[in-house]
Amino acid sequence: MLHLRSSQFSRVMVKLGPVFSVRHLLVLSLAINVSLMLTVIRERVKVEEILNMFSTKLQLATVSPSTGDGETTDNGEAIINLDHGDPTMYEKYWQRMGDKTTVVISGWQFTSYFSDPKNLCWFLEPELAEEVVRLHRVVGNAITKDYHIVVGTGSSQLFQAALYALSSDASEPMSVVSAAPYYSSYPVITDCLKSGLYKWEGDAQAFDKSGPYIELVTSPNNPDGFVRQSVVNRSGGILVHDLAYYWPQYTPITTPADHDLMLFTVSKTTGHAGMRIGWALVKDEIIARKIVKYIELSTIGVSKDSQLRAAKVLRAVSDSCGVAHPFKEETFFGFSHHSMESRWMLLREAVNRSGIFSLPEFTPGFCNFWNRVFEPLPAFAWLKCGDGIEDCESFLRGHKIWTRSGRYFGVSPSYVRISMLDRDRTFNLFVKRLSRIRSQRRMRLEHVD
Ligand SMILES: Cc1ncc(COP(=O)(O)O)c(C=O)c1O
Repeated sequence: MLHLRSSQFSRVMVKLGPVFSVRHLLVLSLAINVSLMLTVIRERVKVEEILNMFSTKLQLATVSPSTGDGETTDNGEAIINLDHGDPTMYEKYWQRMGDKTTVVISGWQFTSYFSDPKNLCWFLEPELAEEVVRLHRVVGNAITKDYHIVVGTGSSQLFQAALYALSSDASEPMSVVSAAPYYSSYPVITDCLKSGLYKWEGDAQAFDKSGPYIELVTSPNNPDGFVRQSVVNRSGGILVHDLAYYWPQYTPITTPADHDLMLFTVSKTTGHAGMRIGWALVKDEIIARKIVKYIELSTIGVSKDSQLRAAKVLRAVSDSCGVAHPFKEETFFGFSHHSMESRWMLLREAVNRSGIFSLPEFTPGFCNFWNRVFEPLPAFAWLKCGDGIEDCESFLRGHKIWTRSGRYFGVSPSYVRISMLDRDRTFNLFVKRLSRIRSQRRMRLEHVD
């Protein structure tokens, strides 16, 4: 492409003067300007593409969060933002609990970097370690005996620490894979620093490269809610189990998990995403030390204030399980399980009415925690658009419902992921609006009726 500064342009004009008429020169000047404008537009498109990757964050900044509960009338005007998995549904429970989880920290307290200098994870508050072990025992969803507990600033930091720990001795970048649809943050987090240690290689089901690899197994899975196992099954593979949703409000607890490296987070357990606390259960001491090293290098530990708050919240959850029948709404899991059950029932009704959408069907399983059989109630709805709609995200956007397209999860844009964990008001508005969307066929039938 021809790029000329104005001084160069005048010089060219003078030289070409005798050969071309003024009209020729005007046409040439117009062509150059158009080409420059196209370059600028192309650059802008590139910038917009990048911004779109993070559009969800920008949207969050421009949409005020909903507040009260129960109110469901908005004349179809309000934007319903269910793109993120922000777990605000749980606020209601914690409001009811009043001061049970209030933490007061004086200015002179917890000023040191160190929490437990003799522990492998020297920045782990012993109180939090104790409550993590207790909650896993109460729920029965993970073995903690003979595991090292490493605390992180959310499980997102632990995920990065795990990649570092598992690849730091590799002679070439280790492949990182996960079966599609995979959690949309995995590719962006893995490649954000263009590390020489590891590299995102996409869908584990299509992975055929030789050499060592890391497979991320999310179970139940974000976005589709299915229970998963590793799919590559080759030597040289290391598994990271992201068990963010392996809690009894979402899925039957069938067995205590005992994988080599397991990640958990308070974000999805109790709804305290803003605390930024996650924990890893790690079998191998050397790997655990490397995870600790990464956190030491990146943030010199993890906020003590948040750890103490998390400890108090986890203690309240375990305590609540002991004081009442687990099904009662005063227990944390009783409240959250009932909320999920009624939300899934309302959503399925709305989807059935529409004739356009479909949802995954789950096989019920026996839950050792509830001592009964139930069908999974995932934190996200993995909705598929039918009726010839190829871009489900755009279609729903037309109805002012913001969701996340299947393409971010490595699959077709005919799917979208929808958060099931927003506040009651937002969820109720969403279901009401969704149930008003009808397929052409259904409308014709209703008209005939
Ligand atoms: C599967 C999975 N892992 C990890 C995270 C991030 O958790 P945290 O808030 O602890 O960083 C999420 C959040 O949506 C998730 O869905």
